[in-house]
This record gives sequence, structure tokens and C-alpha cells, in this order.
Amino acid sequence: MAEKVLIIGSLGQVGQELFETLKNSYGDANVIASDVKDKVELEGRYEKLDVLDKNALFELVKKNGITQVYNLAALLSATAEKHPQFGWDLTIEGQFNVLNLAKEGHIKKIFWPSSIAVFGPTTPKDNTPQQTVIEPNTVYGIGKLAGEMWNKYYFEKYGVDVRGVRYPGLIGWKSLPGGGTTDYAVDIFYSALRGKVFNCFLREDAELPMMHMEDAIRATREIMETDAENVKLRTCYNIAAMNFNPAQLTKAIQEKIPDFTIEYNPDFRQDIASTWPRSINDEPARTDWGWQEKYNLEGLVNNMLDNLKGTV
Ligand code: SER
Repeated sequence: MAEKVLIIGSLGQVGQELFETLKNSYGDANVIASDVKDKVELEGRYEKLDVLDKNALFELVKKNGITQVYNLAALLSATAEKHPQFGWDLTIEGQFNVLNLAKEGHIKKIFWPSSIAVFGPTTPKDNTPQQTVIEPNTVYGIGKLAGEMWNKYYFEKYGVDVRGVRYPGLIGWKSLPGGGTTDYAVDIFYSALRGKVFNCFLREDAELPMMHMEDAIRATREIMETDAENVKLRTCYNIAAMNFNPAQLTKAIQEKIPDFTIEYNPDFRQDIASTWPRSINDEPARTDWGWQEKYNLEGLVNNMLDNLKGTV
């Protein structure tokens, strides 16, 4: 049977790129983008959907014979701090709606993104293992950790095929992030190319795990396409590519744009960043389903500047 794919939260940073990639894999007619906006300009099929509306989700899945759901709906770390109840509901109630569809046999496979935000102030910061002290203190992190555990529960109790990765900060030129702690690492490229001073909301030494969006999308496809027995962890896998702080990213950009300058005005997002790892150990993803990144810091900077040049 042909796969029919639904992306929930398709207008976000990951969703926009994933939609293009999945259309290439499964064919334009077999991938539906959905989000809460009424109407959007998209090349492809778009349906308005609120993941919290269980009945509307069910109708959409049944009417279109959906087999796979990518549930990307969430408020990122900074925004969720301002709307704790809604941040939790969107993450957890939304995922319950999706998990229950699979439990009842209406869909076959689910992708659910987690984040480095599951880690907290008591987690070892360097080379953070898959399994370690995990005590997040942000709304976003608490929701993602709870969701990971529910996914594992639904897999173990009901055989639901749900898979996921813990994304680091994601950096791409095709879509913009919104409301995250790692957003600076995308925004900085726009300032650099516009000849502007960049005002950074993190400290110069705030080192965090980061990844090119192309690698993140490939990881998403690879974990979804690998045989079920290779997915030994049904929480979410650590995946890593590179680590840097704003000062190191600035230096790498200055190699290409020597006049570029940055100033630092850390705000509440620095307090979030301070609780997250500096680097991630992703051995299980490499061993179980062959994860391997393509971009390092230099490759990322070259790729971002090349693609954004002339467009900003
Ligand atoms: N990029 C996310 C954020 O900053 C982390 O997953 O919230």
C-alpha cells in the first residue's frame, strides 16, 4: 500500500523543509501539510488542522487514508515559557490525539520530535549521554520529556510504531525559526549579509549543540525509513553534528565577511541555554540506524552564506 503522509505543524521551521522532502519521497499527491492557519501559499496540499481537535484530526486521517503522521506542533522553548499551560497542552494533548489514532489502528507510523531541551541543570554538560540525569526546568523541556515517555509507553503497551530524535539547534536557509533559544544562530546570518551589527540574546560563551537543517531532515527520514527492529529506543535518540558558541560562530562568519560585528545583550533565553548541554553523545543513533552528519561549522557557514547571499 502506498504511504500517505500527514505533517502537523507544517508551517514551522522543520515542517516547511520536511514537506518539500517528503513530497519528493512519496509524491506530491501523497503528502498533506497541515497547520492552524486558515490559508497559505504552498505548492502542494494544505489542510487547516488544530492537533488539539481530536475529531478533525480523525476525519482528516480517515478521509485521506493517512498511514504516517509527523507531529511537529509545539511552542519552542522561549515562547512556551510565556504560555506554560498552552505549551504543555499542545505538546502532550496533541501527541495523545496522534498516539491514540495509532493505538486504534488508524495510522501505522508516527514521527515525534524531541529536543536537547529535555536536559536540565543537573545533566552532565559535555558529551551528554542518551541516558543520564534528565530533569528539565523549562515548559518545553518538561513537555518533550513527558512526550518521550508516553511514546515509549504506547510502543511497549500497544505496539505503536512511534520514532523520534532530540534535535539540537537547527540552522537552515529555507525557513526561519520562531520562539527558540537557538534562533540567534539563524538570525545572525541575516544581519551579517545585510551589513548590520548583530544583537545577540545569548552570551558569547553560550556553547550549544547545533545542526544544519539538511542533516536534521535526513535524520528524520532515516529513522522513519529504517526497519522497526533497528529502532531500539522508543523515547527519542540523541543526534549531534557540531557545537559552538556565539563568539565561535561570529569568528567563522568573519572569515567570509570580515566587517561583521556582534554585540551581546543576554536576556531570559540565556538562562534557558545555561541549563542545556554543550555537546551531545549520539552513539546509539550511530549504532542502531547509522546516523552520520554531513555539515561541520565551516560547511554550515559556507552553505548558509552561499544560499542567502542576494536574497536578504
Ligand atoms: N531550537 C529549540 C529551541 O531553542 C531547541 O529544541 O527551543
